[in-house]
Amino acid sequence: MKVLVIGKGGREHSLCWRLNQSPTVWGLYCTGGSPGINQVAKPVDIAPDDFAGLVRFAAAEKIDLTIVGPEAPLAGGIVDQFERAGLTIFGPSQAAAQLESSKAFAKLVMREAGVPTADFATFDDADAARRYVKSLGRPCVVKADGLAMGKGVTVCASADAALAAVADAMETRRFGAAGARVVIEEMLRGEELSFFALCDGAGAVALGCAQDHKAVFDGDRGPNTGGMGAYTPVPRYGAEFEERVMHEVVRPTLTAMAARGNPFRGVMFAGLMVDGDRIKVLEYNVRFGDPECEALMMRFDGDLAETLLAIAQGRAREVAIRLSSRTAATVVLTAGGYPGDYARGTPIAGLERIDGVEPSEAKVRWAMEKTRVKVFHAGTATRDGALVTDGGRVLAVTALAEGLERAVTAAYEAAGMIRFDGMHYRRDVGARALGHMPA
Ligand SMILES: Nc1ncnc2c1ncn2[C@@H]1O[C@H](COP(=O)(O)OP(=O)(O)O)[C@@H](O)[C@H]1O
Ligand SMILES: [Mg+2]
Repeated sequence: MKVLVIGKGGREHSLCWRLNQSPTVWGLYCTGGSPGINQVAKPVDIAPDDFAGLVRFAAAEKIDLTIVGPEAPLAGGIVDQFERAGLTIFGPSQAAAQLESSKAFAKLVMREAGVPTADFATFDDADAARRYVKSLGRPCVVKADGLAMGKGVTVCASADAALAAVADAMETRRFGAAGARVVIEEMLRGEELSFFALCDGAGAVALGCAQDHKAVFDGDRGPNTGGMGAYTPVPRYGAEFEERVMHEVVRPTLTAMAARGNPFRGVMFAGLMVDGDRIKVLEYNVRFGDPECEALMMRFDGDLAETLLAIAQGRAREVAIRLSSRTAATVVLTAGGYPGDYARGTPIAGLERIDGVEPSEAKVRWAMEKTRVKVFHAGTATRDGALVTDGGRVLAVTALAEGLERAVTAAYEAAGMIRFDGMHYRRDVGARALGHMPA
């Protein structure tokens, strides 16, 4: 089949890399492309928000399956436009994508579905929101309703902080129209986890759990980023836990969405807060996480294209997911200054030491341990034939090995071979699960 991938970051590189290994794929295209993606897919010079252009391309090239990486085209209705043109596409409709694009909508669906989540109230009026904050008298979380690039949520230890967050979102409009409405919810404690399931509208199959690392500095300090690292599977959260999440979260959500007339197809990514025996949903996302996807793709065994095609065609029942029992760990290398201002165009050195034939002590050991290392390109470009940085998150260094300790060690060994001015990465990916830092 011929496959088109929308998006061009590290997530999409890992999807293209895995799709390129599908025996059934003989044509692979990716919007924008990147120096990494272009090694396995043909770049297509059409913007991810030019839906009409993408539909024309997919129809003309007889693309059998289109896979959408980022949330913005999904929230914009790319799936509806493809389906109207009779094209097969993996992802939720615009109405179903509201599970991510509107936090108020998501909370409503959770309530309808009986999915455990933090107590909440929704406000369109700043004064009413302030009265609610004052009546609470305990820590709370203020969330801009709409898409805010992961910046719209403020965890507030005090009422004053919450009042400021309300003003920021609803009056100063720091997140634009996304903050016109806010959800204010109870603050939960526990351990955060990402859970992924592939859904065909009626049924679903579990892809499993991953742990991400959002803050820019070690020990979860500093501002939040798109994601600094991930690993999967997560120790202590095995098959039994997965079945519980399918039963308490994924299937009830699918039933509620179908009952609304908005069946959910695509990746359901539930952000969970686990406290002892209790699982609560913090939020839904409607696409793969980045960099969780890089780690998951490293473990994915089998034909990814056939799997996603079956899901897109409503045949989840025929799908059996096979994941390597080994652990994948991803360490994201970022440009200095990210998530604030950062430079682009900085030369990157050392990749050939990982991918190329140059021997090294680490590579010999990886071969002996059957450890695999793959570097996904998140934000790179080619200038005068040389690889340079072209984004805040630059490379997602991923290793697959026996156990978390080995996977993390290999990912850090590989990261240590790469160099560019200002390069930053967290040194503590996986440290909590390995017992190297307090919970
Ligand atoms: N009810 C809550 N209690 C405690 N922390 C929360 C709560 N809701 C969100 N958070 C924290 O804020 C982060 C971002 O919130 P989330 O709902 O995932 O929105 P987004 O990813 O769109 O920014 C979460 O990863 C979590 O750390
Ligand atoms: Mg989140």
